[in-house]
Amino acid sequence: MTDHERARRPLGRLRLGVNIDHVATIRNARGGAHPDPVHAARIAEAAGADGITAHLREDRRHITDADIEALTGMLRVPLNFEMAATPEMQAIALKHRPHAVCIVPEKREERTTEGGLDVAADDNRLAHFITPLREAGCRISIFLAADRRQIEAAHRIGAPVIELHTGAYCDAHNEGRFADRDVELEHLREMSAFAHSLGLEVHAGHGLTFETAAPVAAFPEVMELNIGHFLVGEAIFSGLDSAIRRMRELMERARREAFGEGAA
Ligand code: PXP
Repeated sequence: MTDHERARRPLGRLRLGVNIDHVATIRNARGGAHPDPVHAARIAEAAGADGITAHLREDRRHITDADIEALTGMLRVPLNFEMAATPEMQAIALKHRPHAVCIVPEKREERTTEGGLDVAADDNRLAHFITPLREAGCRISIFLAADRRQIEAAHRIGAPVIELHTGAYCDAHNEGRFADRDVELEHLREMSAFAHSLGLEVHAGHGLTFETAAPVAAFPEVMELNIGHFLVGEAIFSGLDSAIRRMRELMERARREAFGEGAA
């Protein structure tokens, strides 16, 4: 634990958002109805997920419009609706009015969301884009690289939340580049504190696993982790319920170890 963390208290309970996209990826591989991401969402809720995240991509490669419709009808925990900043997605979000809308960059040819949104280069358009969503009551989050300029731009356009892209940190860890990993982690830590100093709520996600989630969970400013691919993959070995419970436990342990009993 750093002196910085010791001196600080977490800003609140750390939430776990479970991303169910890849349940739909498996379903769509056979074109049928199984496994049903809505059923996965029910299991996630029962296992302690604080929210469900689903990304409706332009090409509908995993989550479909019908999944979003079903999720908004049945969820007891908040839905975090991930989407690109397109007029089509804006109309869908305005129809369903999910609790949260996370704006992500999207490229058709990418395997997953590869980087953060370049909000600094598109701030005028994005400011106008998020206004009706905010007016509809959706909490707007912008998925960003841990970059000061991008964080400032998200703040400038009036987004209340940012989600820091943890992919570079996780890749470095998985590839055994531990010096790079530590640099990325330190950068995420600094940018979490910076974003908080501007009044932004800080979330984090992408590529997190049992090994990589704990150090991020120990950042006092981070309020939510969004985790999908690893949990759905781990569900093959231990079941979804068990994978989520284990993730929640390790997040809580990381919080307690960093800030003492009572901090989760
Ligand atoms: N957060 C955002 C904004 C994402 O786009 C994704 C991937 O869809 C995740 C979190 C979850 O990433 P992963 O599936 O790698 O855990």
